[in-house]
Amino acid sequence: MSATHRLTAPAPGWTATTDVVVVGSGVAGLTVALNVRKAGLRAMVVTKAVLDEGSTRWAQGGVAAALGEGDSPEQHLDDTLVAGAGLCDEEAVRTLVTEGPDAIRRLIATGALFDRGEDGEVLLTREGGHHRRRIVHAGGDATGAEISRALVAAVHTDPGIELIEHALVLDLLTDAEGHAAGLTLHVMGEGQRDGVGAVRARAVVLATGGMGQVFSATTNPAVSTGDGVALALRAGAAVTDLEFVQFHPTVLWLGPDAEGQQPLVSEAVRGEGAHLVDADGVRFMVGQHELAELAPRDIVAKAITQRMLEQGAEHMYLDGRHFGAEMWEHRFPTILASCRAHGIDPITEPIPVAPAAHYASGGIRTDRHGRTSLPGLYACGEVACTGVHGANRLASNSLLEGLVFAEQIAEDLAARHRAGELPERTVDVDAARAARPVPLPPSEARAEVQRLMSRGVGVLRSAASMADTAAGLALLAEQAAHVAEAKPADPRVDTWEAANLLLVATALVAAAAQREETRGCHWREDFPDRDDAHWRRHLITTLAASGDPVSTPEEQ
Ligand code: SIN
Repeated sequence: MSATHRLTAPAPGWTATTDVVVVGSGVAGLTVALNVRKAGLRAMVVTKAVLDEGSTRWAQGGVAAALGEGDSPEQHLDDTLVAGAGLCDEEAVRTLVTEGPDAIRRLIATGALFDRGEDGEVLLTREGGHHRRRIVHAGGDATGAEISRALVAAVHTDPGIELIEHALVLDLLTDAEGHAAGLTLHVMGEGQRDGVGAVRARAVVLATGGMGQVFSATTNPAVSTGDGVALALRAGAAVTDLEFVQFHPTVLWLGPDAEGQQPLVSEAVRGEGAHLVDADGVRFMVGQHELAELAPRDIVAKAITQRMLEQGAEHMYLDGRHFGAEMWEHRFPTILASCRAHGIDPITEPIPVAPAAHYASGGIRTDRHGRTSLPGLYACGEVACTGVHGANRLASNSLLEGLVFAEQIAEDLAARHRAGELPERTVDVDAARAARPVPLPPSEARAEVQRLMSRGVGVLRSAASMADTAAGLALLAEQAAHVAEAKPADPRVDTWEAANLLLVATALVAAAAQREETRGCHWREDFPDRDDAHWRRHLITTLAASGDPVSTPEEQ
């Protein structure tokens, strides 16, 4: 069992109590909250921004499920396993693809309005790695926003779900048996629950989303600072597959120094027939893979990067001019608007695109019920690693994973509640006090972490580039410790976020440097081949007593 660490925080100024505390308000978090209510459990949803501000809202493409004629869960399973490059947990994928179609029907029953054809049937599109049309979408390219709208509306009608917005989660609280018993958090608001507080609960569910903000350019919103993975590591939980960061191939290129959240150009644009071309108009994906532009995402991202290197270009182009104005306006209104907002008109010109960090395929390790290695702590959605994505997530499997595994967690909690295995917990304050405090870096560390990570641990990486990044991150941690001794940094949201980013970046590099092969989302310049004999296995990361992340290959 790893040592536990905590963010330095003042003693909680207020407390609240519930049955299940859910951190995060994306599809996974809200689905857990709505479903535990069916078992008569009270839920509290804690979210860092406001209820509809998580990553779900930004999802454009859709949700994958075998709903079309001639399709089957088995075919969806095959495509998922191929994309996952040998590291998917096949049984977890089976749960995903067999439960998927009904989970979508239940989402429709909750109120989500998906796009339908003239015959009234739900429309299906294609994305990279799928051999069938199996992606449901809403508002053309605003699927996440519609799902979020429907779930938020359902949550608002349930008086048994309490909400705390503008709340950054800090650390896990446990009882004397080491069972999760609640959380500390910092609410940035006014009124009764302001500042650092504690929520006591019978179980804790983390659905905090991703960690894309460890890189300079990402499709993730500013709130995606790896808070859930950092919390889990500090609490002693195991995380896995952190090295498998997925880079989305087609992110609108806004210049060499563009930082922060970048506009996505959905795979569905390629699914509907747009071509990837270089500056000479050559379709470079043709002949590289049987699916050309619709190859799995890792293959397309690597091919774009390679072409950019060969030609000394800063980006490639996505050409959808042949769609015509009506298709752009009706099928891709969000993308059309965001391109035009940046001075590009996809109806008359190709869109400049380049890969950017998009999705963490790894995360807090869970079983098929969403249980982590710590009793009473569950995780689902992007923060979790259920095993369904392997080394590279298949497009549009993420919202589906959030839905399906949120339902699995709710079922597990309901069963434990019925069996009397989910009693009220007494928070062990001594356990919290015994944990070691993590020095807080100044908030400026955030930009430095992003710069180091983008330079050394992007699509292309090598032992040398990662050693530079690791040294830079170690220096930041050392400086934070020095400064903390002299004058502790203010415990504020930006310093806590900087501490979380520094920790998850350090853990990610530790795992990525160990994996001496090229698999899934990344490309090792010094180990260009996949090495199944040594590396067809996961790396499990925990924190050592020193606070340093340690990655250990799983036994084969
Ligand atoms: C996209 O629309 O291209 C993103 C979908 C996904 O990440 O699954």
